[in-house]
Amino acid sequence: MASQDQPDEAVPAPLDTLAAPAPLEIIRELVGSPGRTHPYPRYELLRAHGPVVPVRPGLTVVVGYAECDAALRNSQLRVQDGPSYDAIYPDWREHPALRGYIDSMLYRNPPDHARMRGLVSGGFTPRRVSGMRTAVTQLTDRLLDRLAVAGAGGAPVEFVAEFASRLPIAVISALLGVPEHDQAWFRRIAADVTIALEGITNSAELAVADLAMAELGEYFLALISRRRLEPVDDVVSALVHGSEQLAEQELVANMMLLLTAGFETTSFLLGHCLLLALRSPGLARRLRTEPGFEVGYVEETLRFETPVQATSRWAATELDLLGHPIPAGTKVVLILGAANRDPRRYARPDRFDPDRGTSQPLSFGAGSHFCLGAPLSRMEAQIALPRLLRRFPELALAGPPVRRDTWVGRGLDELPIRLG
Ligand code: HEM
Repeated sequence: MASQDQPDEAVPAPLDTLAAPAPLEIIRELVGSPGRTHPYPRYELLRAHGPVVPVRPGLTVVVGYAECDAALRNSQLRVQDGPSYDAIYPDWREHPALRGYIDSMLYRNPPDHARMRGLVSGGFTPRRVSGMRTAVTQLTDRLLDRLAVAGAGGAPVEFVAEFASRLPIAVISALLGVPEHDQAWFRRIAADVTIALEGITNSAELAVADLAMAELGEYFLALISRRRLEPVDDVVSALVHGSEQLAEQELVANMMLLLTAGFETTSFLLGHCLLLALRSPGLARRLRTEPGFEVGYVEETLRFETPVQATSRWAATELDLLGHPIPAGTKVVLILGAANRDPRRYARPDRFDPDRGTSQPLSFGAGSHFCLGAPLSRMEAQIALPRLLRRFPELALAGPPVRRDTWVGRGLDELPIRLG
């Protein structure tokens, strides 16, 4: 790829890795505002301490690709489940927002996790997901029609609000069987509920998420009873009529998870896909003209701007992670965004190169909790991006993008564009 095609985000000069500060200092910077905006030089400072970095007793971070991959597949490294939340936040059951998530598969360990995931994936089959291709194309085209109206006469349009946040909700609504007239409400409520995914936040934010979760819970219960009486071809009908069943509360929690886990993450992916293309006209041209180029392009965007920068696990027992001892009880933070730029895995990792071939970034995790929605969100981006760029060949930035000021969720809140 020609060098002028490199995205030109203003990244500060690389920090001097030879004089890497202590890990705890780097982590403090990383979660502060400048670190959240430019995490990648901080990851290299951490990497100067090795692929697995003990930060302090009880906390280790992992920045190596092979080590993150091994950690995600290691059953002695457990997710934080209900009983472990009891120890750190005994009141969690009082909060519908926390209860909603902690009852879902993302917060379950073996053997409970496999039972729950098996039942949910029984409704969320590859056949059902690949059967969504036509629907995703139609939903994309309808949103592009809307965009054309909003941006008529060269008016600036905000891509995240008008497209990137709408497509994932429209798609998951179609899968779950949420009628179109409920989707505006669904989008708003999903945004409120998603706050709780950032962890136990401040109590004001948690109160907003609690209210939203309670409302959404009622909505899903009503949908479940309608599908019990009259099944149709959607995920909820498949789940309520499966041979083995989830308890109602578990069913609601997992519907909540399907809605929220794929909402902002896919919106972040779509935003970065477009931003990187607008900054590299050669890539935008290839997306318009080269069938199949979008597959590697979306994969490279997932690697280069990982939408979920980190996840975490707890060591149930003392263990060895590819030669690095982890004491029992340690919290292990897996920095997926750093693993995806590990120079031992990727040549010139800071270069955006959609022609890398099979790069298998860890953006959807790995092992037993591997993202259930990966094929769906890949499909959305692969369909949407070429259609958008072909429909508006003059598409250009209309102002500076606004980044979400969070570390774990990496994406754009605003991407102003002009259609031409
Ligand atoms: C670009 C978009 C997405 C990204 C980057 C993403 C990322 C992830 C990651 C990293 C995990 C693993 C977390 C861990 O192991 O701790 C995960 C799990 C999960 N994701 Fe996604 N996700 C995306 C889209 C979606 C979509 C569209 C859906 C649903 C429609 C979805 C549903 C789930 C579910 C249900 C899990 C939990 C699986 C389990 O615990 O067994 N995700 N996702």
